[in-house]
Amino acid sequence: MAEKKTFYITTPIYYPSGNMHIGHTYTTVAADTMTRFKKMLGYDTYFLTGTDEHGQKIETKAAEAGKTPQQFVDDIVAETKRLWKLMNIEYDDFIRTTDERHMVIVQKIFRKFYEQGDIYKSSYEGMYCTPCESFWTPSQLKDGCCPDCGRPVQKMSEEAYFFRMSKYQDWLIDYIETHPDFIQPPSRANEMLNNFLRPGLQDLCVSRTSFKWGVPVDFDEKHVVYVWIDALSNYITALGYLSGDDHLYKKYWPADIHLVGKEIVRFHTIYWPIMLHALGEPLPKQVFGHGWMLFGGDKMSKSKGNIEYAQPIVKRYGVDTLRYYLMREMPFGADGNYTNEALLTRMNADLVNDLGNLVSRTVAMIEKYFDGVVPAPAESGEQDAALIERFEALPDIVEKQMDALQFSVALSEIWKLIGDCNRYIDQTEPWKLGKDEALKPRLQTVLYNLAECIRAIAVYIAPTMPATPEKIYAQLGVTDPALKTWESVKKFGALVPGTKVCKGEALFPRVDIKKELESIAAEHEAENAKLEALAGKKPEKKEEKKPAAETPVATYDDFVKIKLIAAKVIACEKVKKSEKLLKETLDIGNGQTRTVCSGIAKHYTPEEMVGKTVVLVANLAPRKMAGEVSEGMLLCAEGPDGTLKLLTVEDGIAPGSEIS
Ligand code: ME8
Repeated sequence: MAEKKTFYITTPIYYPSGNMHIGHTYTTVAADTMTRFKKMLGYDTYFLTGTDEHGQKIETKAAEAGKTPQQFVDDIVAETKRLWKLMNIEYDDFIRTTDERHMVIVQKIFRKFYEQGDIYKSSYEGMYCTPCESFWTPSQLKDGCCPDCGRPVQKMSEEAYFFRMSKYQDWLIDYIETHPDFIQPPSRANEMLNNFLRPGLQDLCVSRTSFKWGVPVDFDEKHVVYVWIDALSNYITALGYLSGDDHLYKKYWPADIHLVGKEIVRFHTIYWPIMLHALGEPLPKQVFGHGWMLFGGDKMSKSKGNIEYAQPIVKRYGVDTLRYYLMREMPFGADGNYTNEALLTRMNADLVNDLGNLVSRTVAMIEKYFDGVVPAPAESGEQDAALIERFEALPDIVEKQMDALQFSVALSEIWKLIGDCNRYIDQTEPWKLGKDEALKPRLQTVLYNLAECIRAIAVYIAPTMPATPEKIYAQLGVTDPALKTWESVKKFGALVPGTKVCKGEALFPRVDIKKELESIAAEHEAENAKLEALAGKKPEKKEEKKPAAETPVATYDDFVKIKLIAAKVIACEKVKKSEKLLKETLDIGNGQTRTVCSGIAKHYTPEEMVGKTVVLVANLAPRKMAGEVSEGMLLCAEGPDGTLKLLTVEDGIAPGSEIS
């Protein structure tokens, strides 16, 4: 027997957070949907997820919670696994970066890099707070002092290991240019090439001595391995790479897809390929950077108070409603906005009206006219051909869209068949056929065709909505596993006449959207408070909206809340949907970048912007402008004729420097 083709897919490993929100579930539901789809197509699939548990932040949070870091992460990981169960996620392995199996291999990998000269020892310079034993970058300092304890800091350097990223830069540029499928969507490849690779890579600091919660460097134990080197390795340590048993690695590597959010594409398409190449291993076939699930135009985050959790939604409307919404609403790759209203609208329209009604109407008619037994087709009619044509064209269309990770398009194609079925009922008017014995043969065909289409629809929706197909099969009386396969939907007519249908409950609950939104708001507040309490968070007091004062006075305390920093424009382009906006990519120091949109397209060309060091309001809540998320604001002065001039900083001021 020919060996099955393999399919290895991963999600990022999640930071331990007791309050994972709907945005977090997005990547995992997508990976699960894809895995189920490939499995249905006959692939030997492997789906990896897990948690990214090391680093100073965890060490600090654990101390705040009065726990050891290990206790702290253990509690949260249990919560994460419960969430994946609730979301019906079927992973093959859950890797934790605190697993012994992972840590020993990270040590081997680090040693290998060192021994072959990719890693060298040097020193890391920064501002040091001795009582807190912490390094700070200039932008992290508060009034020039330690942001934790407020005491003065000294310029110091810490011994650290560095990875020679620069050595691999030209190879990686060439690889990305010659492998157009490697980074998807293609716009993200251009971003990596233009913003990071072509301007030149700097060597990366890959060890720390200022905290302990990490993988120790086994030949120099006061160092722990940098969290990204540790975390990225999970994709191969989970498969037993460099261990005594690497059969999974041999079978599944290179991964077919790393699914990641757009903010971590850089780590997955620059550091990770370089690490693999330095190890002499092949690169993953594709890194797909999806967009963000925004909430009220912002990325969901605790600090912005715009979080929506999966649990209350699943409890009210079922897991398949949420999974369907996540995969249907957002074109994969782009940002999308989550609203309860959109979720309920989709549920009422697509699930209750289109799908639910189709199933219940068809089953009810088979009960009424044929004593509940699926009739054999007898007399064809002119309306049949178009329906059957759609049926037989669908497998190729769905497969193509799913392979491109276009979940939303694939679902809309499936819903076209559902729409055709509903139209077919309107056109053939079975209730009229049922009244006349002479028209019964035609009615037999109509109801058979509908039942056969519904069977196929159940097969198609299974990867996205795994809990629903069995409910449909039960109503149709389909028990034979062969009728639930991908093969069975390729040709019309697999359903065997004579099976007994059985009317069941409505597949999805119909709701009054207005009333439901009011009730969700009340219930969510209580549920969210409970989930946050679980995560050890104190409930935040909601800010009351005050009427704006006519001439607002800013106190000194108000003023110091605004963080102004110097930022260098490293790339700039016009925003497609706007005449006024330019989108700038800013170097904000410390290897970090920001994207900001500014209404200055009439005053500066993108070329004039690149190279300027400007003043950035760095802690402004992100907002969406003409479809782009702007993470801050550039300061400008307005001339008497309305021209805008950017505030710039003189040469010699490094990006990230604080302005006060
Ligand atoms: O990044 N919309 O972990 P993480 C869509 N540990 N996706 C979202 C989202 C939103 N609102 N919020 C989060 C990490 N995500 C690292 C990864 S991999 C070697 C290490 C996605 O818990 C996010 O984009 O912050 C990412 O893909 C995933 O959730 C985990 O994010």
